[in-house]
Amino acid sequence: MSLPTKISRRALLAGGATVAASPMLLHPDQGYAQSARPVPADVFRLGVASGDPLPDAVVLWTRLAPDPLTGGGMPARNVPVEWEIAEDDRFTRRRRTGIALARPELGHSVHVDVRGLRPDRVYFYRFRTGGQVSPAGRTRTAPAVSARPRTLRFAFASCQDYQAGFYTAYQHLAAEDVAFVAFLGDYIYEGPRNAAAARQHEGTDEPFTLAQYRNRHAQYKTDPDLQAAHAAFPWIVTFDDHEVDNNWADEIPQDPQSQTPEAFRARRIAAFQAYYEHMPLRRSSLPRRLDMQLYRRFRYGSLASVHVLDTRQYRSDQPATLADAQNPALTMTGPEQEKWLVDGLRRSGSEWNVLANQVMWAQNDRLAGPGQTFDFDNWDGYRAQRRRLLEFFGSGRVDNPVVLTGDRHCTWVSDLRPDFDDVTTPIVGAEITGTSITSGGNANPASFHATYDPIMAESPHWRYIDNQRGYVVCDVSRTEMVSSLRLVDTVWAPTASVRTEARFTVEAGRPGIAEVSVSPAPRSTGRTAEPAFDVRDDQGVVPPTR
Ligand SMILES: [Fe+2]
Repeated sequence: MSLPTKISRRALLAGGATVAASPMLLHPDQGYAQSARPVPADVFRLGVASGDPLPDAVVLWTRLAPDPLTGGGMPARNVPVEWEIAEDDRFTRRRRTGIALARPELGHSVHVDVRGLRPDRVYFYRFRTGGQVSPAGRTRTAPAVSARPRTLRFAFASCQDYQAGFYTAYQHLAAEDVAFVAFLGDYIYEGPRNAAAARQHEGTDEPFTLAQYRNRHAQYKTDPDLQAAHAAFPWIVTFDDHEVDNNWADEIPQDPQSQTPEAFRARRIAAFQAYYEHMPLRRSSLPRRLDMQLYRRFRYGSLASVHVLDTRQYRSDQPATLADAQNPALTMTGPEQEKWLVDGLRRSGSEWNVLANQVMWAQNDRLAGPGQTFDFDNWDGYRAQRRRLLEFFGSGRVDNPVVLTGDRHCTWVSDLRPDFDDVTTPIVGAEITGTSITSGGNANPASFHATYDPIMAESPHWRYIDNQRGYVVCDVSRTEMVSSLRLVDTVWAPTASVRTEARFTVEAGRPGIAEVSVSPAPRSTGRTAEPAFDVRDDQGVVPPTR
């Protein structure tokens, strides 16, 4: 990972809140922390996670929360938590051990930045405190920077509205064999409890305070399928809007008429802190007042670089009209992040440049016929910057750019070109917009296709669309990147089956989608006897474009 700002080694060491411990401390026959003061029962109810893998390091996470939905339930004091990481799941070949302090100021979360690991290795880890042992997690380091891996398999996912359904997709994702999971945003939703939904949010209102965001994150983390997916692989996370407020932009809320600038800044600070507390993020992402460093880069040897974007924290407010959307002053990333992205793409030295991105790059008209309707929260609202970046994609200075996207609650596979209305402009890249884990609930493919198939006929850059729930697994090699759409048959029951609905191939050296291969099984046409759960999907209604 290369950070956009320099972090000193001293700061990293001091910030880790960990101290090296003698292996003696963790000898199983001695028991753990016998001298420590007692802690409440069931402190590991939120599971474990790992993230931000480097060739020699990975972040291990847990949060002590015996009473997750009402503040966590921990005493207001520092609690030492022992951690260990081993090469085997029986923890006989331990490689690193230590003690981290779970501090009340950070909700008794624990972030251990373990260093000194071997590249491209599977490791197992767990935590102990007060005689309690966490579930074991499995993680994996990245290959050495100089390595030339022949293949990489990873998954990406987004949009897991707890109220929209069960995390059946994660049951299956947890059983895949992937090096990491990229999560592209909408980890929580800030919406209030909806009694008519498939399952209910805690609380009675949207979260605004740190305590409320903690409870919301903790509720999501209690889900056993989500815990299983975290425990199985390292995650590389970024946020979108619902981790704070629908469609927020920098310091501007969705509804400035009802949230003052001061109130929204306080809300953003609270939301960022709770986000950090619940994610396996490195100390370099610890929020500093209003800001949080989330755009960052990961490298899988010479095969792939993953450029993680933050398209919320620095963006201009959404434009109101199509004319406004052409304003060259509008930015989705802010100038510093744009420079960081362009420099990183140019210098990556990787065969593939994968962008872990939130909102759709490809033009996404939502109206059939001669008129057009756009959601200006997407890159459709930031057209000058999009064109500038896509022309850079086509400049010959970027190797194999592929944008991975969340937000849309649909699968939307597209060729990228600098001007989507001009098919004579060259195709310069590919975008795979993944579906959602739950958001949108169980889909009705028949009505979706009735609406969008006519628009697809007018949008030649769209190569495949679908609105069912699931995730995407990407197989990267020197010659191609194949993305497999994995769909579950329901999110409105605790278990589901999974199938590969389609595969999308990008060939190295040939921008865009080379091939779409759809499963021979007939597409689901929707269910006839579904329960009538209410789904408040933010992808539904878009005001007409002027
Ligand atoms: Fe979403």
